[in-house]
Amino acid sequence: MNTASAPGKIILFGEHAVVYNRPALAVPVFQAHADVEISDSPRPGIWVDAPDISLYAALSALPHTDALRTVIDGFFQAQNISSPPSINIKIKSSIPVASGLGSGAAVSVALIRALSAAIHKPLPDADVNDLAYEIEKLHHGTPSGIDNTVITYAKPVYFVRDQPIETFSVGQPFTLVIGNTGISAPTKESVGDVRKLWLADAPSWEKVFDQIGAIVKQARTAIQDGNIRALGPLMNENHRLFQQLTVSSSALDRLVDAACAAGAMGAKLSGGGRGGNMIALVSSSNAKAVATAIKSAGAQSTITTTIQ
Ligand code: MEV
Repeated sequence: MNTASAPGKIILFGEHAVVYNRPALAVPVFQAHADVEISDSPRPGIWVDAPDISLYAALSALPHTDALRTVIDGFFQAQNISSPPSINIKIKSSIPVASGLGSGAAVSVALIRALSAAIHKPLPDADVNDLAYEIEKLHHGTPSGIDNTVITYAKPVYFVRDQPIETFSVGQPFTLVIGNTGISAPTKESVGDVRKLWLADAPSWEKVFDQIGAIVKQARTAIQDGNIRALGPLMNENHRLFQQLTVSSSALDRLVDAACAAGAMGAKLSGGGRGGNMIALVSSSNAKAVATAIKSAGAQSTITTTIQ
């Protein structure tokens, strides 16, 4: 039996602008993860068992465009294996789908790792990351690659598209409440809509991306220096720029406002926006009150996580 697990992720600062080569900061979230278990199958072929989505089927019976099939087929193609072994692949994930926590990338990374172990060719992280990025491109159009990178390396990442991976240190741990609107919002759509804005008026949006990039750099310095108080206003400013970019939504704004009214130091959407998750920076003494306020404002669920 071969198993592999990959965490979820949240982006702290810099979504969307990162697609246009500005930096962004992201961290793994270990409370939510994708797990894959591979065992020999007594029946010929590859069998996919994903109880979370009530799926149990032969891989060959799934459409070629199916998300799980693209990863598994993509893996064997990349390894030049035309007759894969007969295996059962069990996939479980506690990461909500299309919510900004990187569910798709986490399943891809865990699948690639478990499959490579099953064929006795464990891949180095760089290869896992490259393959997961190819899969992201199939599903997300023009992804920056930040999701697969932070999930593959499972470390805080200062990410710049097409640059070597750079991790960052956390001078003093800080706590975030992640609030899920419960609204499923595919990243592809918000990224596509930002692309339309940019195509219509690149100079104006480039200025907004520059402002987001500047926030990211200040946030990195503040996190490394342990200057947590400085992060709140930067989060609020980043969220305001996302509103301009049209990637927030009334549900996200409600949760962000409720968090700040309950004493959060700052809050912003996290991920592609429109739905999915927001994050609020809290102290250990008001984490519970902020989580309760976010829930009362309509969040389906919250996760409290400490970044260290
Ligand atoms: C999605 O998690 C983050 C975005 O910046 C898209 C991307 O970087 O590919 C919105």
